[in-house]
Amino acid sequence: MQTEEIVKQAQEWVRDFFEEEASGHDWWHTYRVVELAKTIAREEKADLFVCELAALLHDMADSKFNETEAKGIQKVADWLDDKQVRKEERDHVLEIISTMSFRGGHNPPMTTIEGKVVQDADRLDAIGALGIARTFAFSGAHGHPIYVPGEQPQEAMSKEEYEKRQSSAVNHFYEKLLLLKEKLNTNYGKEMGEERHLFMVNFLEQFYLEWNGEK
Ligand code: ADP
Ligand code: NI
Repeated sequence: MQTEEIVKQAQEWVRDFFEEEASGHDWWHTYRVVELAKTIAREEKADLFVCELAALLHDMADSKFNETEAKGIQKVADWLDDKQVRKEERDHVLEIISTMSFRGGHNPPMTTIEGKVVQDADRLDAIGALGIARTFAFSGAHGHPIYVPGEQPQEAMSKEEYEKRQSSAVNHFYEKLLLLKEKLNTNYGKEMGEERHLFMVNFLEQFYLEWNGEK
């Protein structure tokens, strides 16, 4: 099968799968990660096919949408085998998405440029204007407030602890979004990250002004 045909079939598979999802992991998150991954891959001279395919499939193995992460990986492996993706590319894509789905504390580092590109693309979609939009959408869906005055920025905590604490959308900036810039791998990803980071910093500044009725 031609690479374009494999990409097209992956798009269809993923789009059908996420049709029902409204948690911020909808098809349009994947769409944006793919577009970002292609942009960064061109700049970083990474393999475009591997980046595009891994970006398309990056959330398909996530434990949120599968019984276990291992079963999620197996599902993607079966799909790649069914499409007869070349072994080298199949293994590379699987390595990237299993590293990205890994949830046991600190993510293991990405070893290839393609992995670094796709991971940057996923992280960039969590910051900037889109990061802000996704954060407020997530908070609203979970019944969390937009802001709690006096609430102190918290160290990153587990999802379970967070759910119990019901802290605000604004707090999520301090526990995650403002830290992501430092985790970007590639030079071009870092450049994009600087801009998106600054946009969030400015947003917060304006947010506090407006919250306090200032100009
Ligand atoms: P990912 O695996 O992409 O980090 P998550 O499910 O953790 O995905 O988050 C999906 C989106 O919701 C991201 O944009 C993330 O920043 C946001 N989000 C995650 N947890 C929270 C939270 N506790 N409060 C507000 N937004 C959140
Ligand atoms: Ni993602």
